[in-house]
Amino acid sequence: VDFQRDIRPILSNHCFKCHGPDEGTREADLRLDTAEAATADRGGYQAIVPGDAGASAIIERMETDDADLRMPPADSGLTLTPAQIALVRRWIDGGAVYQPHWAFHPITRPALPQPNANDWGRNPIDAFVLSHQQAAGIQPSPEADRHTLIRRVFLDLLGLPPAPEQVEAFLRDEAPDAFERLVDSTLASPRYGERWARHWLDQARYADTNGYTVDSERSIWPYRDWVINSLNRDLPFDRFTIEQLAGDLCPIRLRTN
Ligand code: HEC
Repeated sequence: VDFQRDIRPILSNHCFKCHGPDEGTREADLRLDTAEAATADRGGYQAIVPGDAGASAIIERMETDDADLRMPPADSGLTLTPAQIALVRRWIDGGAVYQPHWAFHPITRPALPQPNANDWGRNPIDAFVLSHQQAAGIQPSPEADRHTLIRRVFLDLLGLPPAPEQVEAFLRDEAPDAFERLVDSTLASPRYGERWARHWLDQARYADTNGYTVDSERSIWPYRDWVINSLNRDLPFDRFTIEQLAGDLCPIRLRTN
């Protein structure tokens, strides 16, 4: 059971309003959002006893048939399913470990899975794919033919199919690294940024014109070009974020091309 994935959403949606960080709505002087508060002695008992769900007051309160004691309170309109209570039980029995949000965890390199001996796969990522496939009882698909491969690369990276000459050139290229070079040269195309900037610009609600009845021109295209070129020159994501938030307050000169 993973705190962030399985437990925090349950506590957050059903308990934190009255037992969370907001002092203004807190009840019974009880916080369940920090390990320290949730495991504090409350005069001979604890809301959470790590490793012992049966001794934890929150489980007793979630499971009791007494409507006056049951949590969340009936008049809150909130209810827990038996499956959610079972998850919280398992989490407490497993030690009730609170974890900070994943974004604050240092990145650790996972151990490489060791799928059953099989000559499929060429790189470490394939080992992850194959071990999941084996767990699900599925076989890797046969390798696609070259026509299919170049079409996929172009549609993925540029959003357009390759021209016939580009397909011919790829088919004629018999070097062992032909596919890698195809991917590299496609990534190097300025069209790459144009294609992928669209996803970011959609999120940012960018449009070249006002739309609707006042479909007049706008002059914010330098921002559009900046996003496109940021992708094309591999601007790191932190820089990409800082420059967008800081805009013209940014101490460095922004490049739009
Ligand atoms: C709408 C507000 C509200 C929500 C939501 C809520 N509670 Fe409570 N809780 C209270 C109030 C009020 C009390 C004090 C009255 C009582 O003890 O029944 C309390 C008391 C408790 C106590 C006893 C504290 C003590 O030491 O006396 C526990 C344990 C508890 N809640 C757990 C939970 C859990 C777990 C959840 C989520 C599943 C939850 N509560 C959701 C309002 C709420």
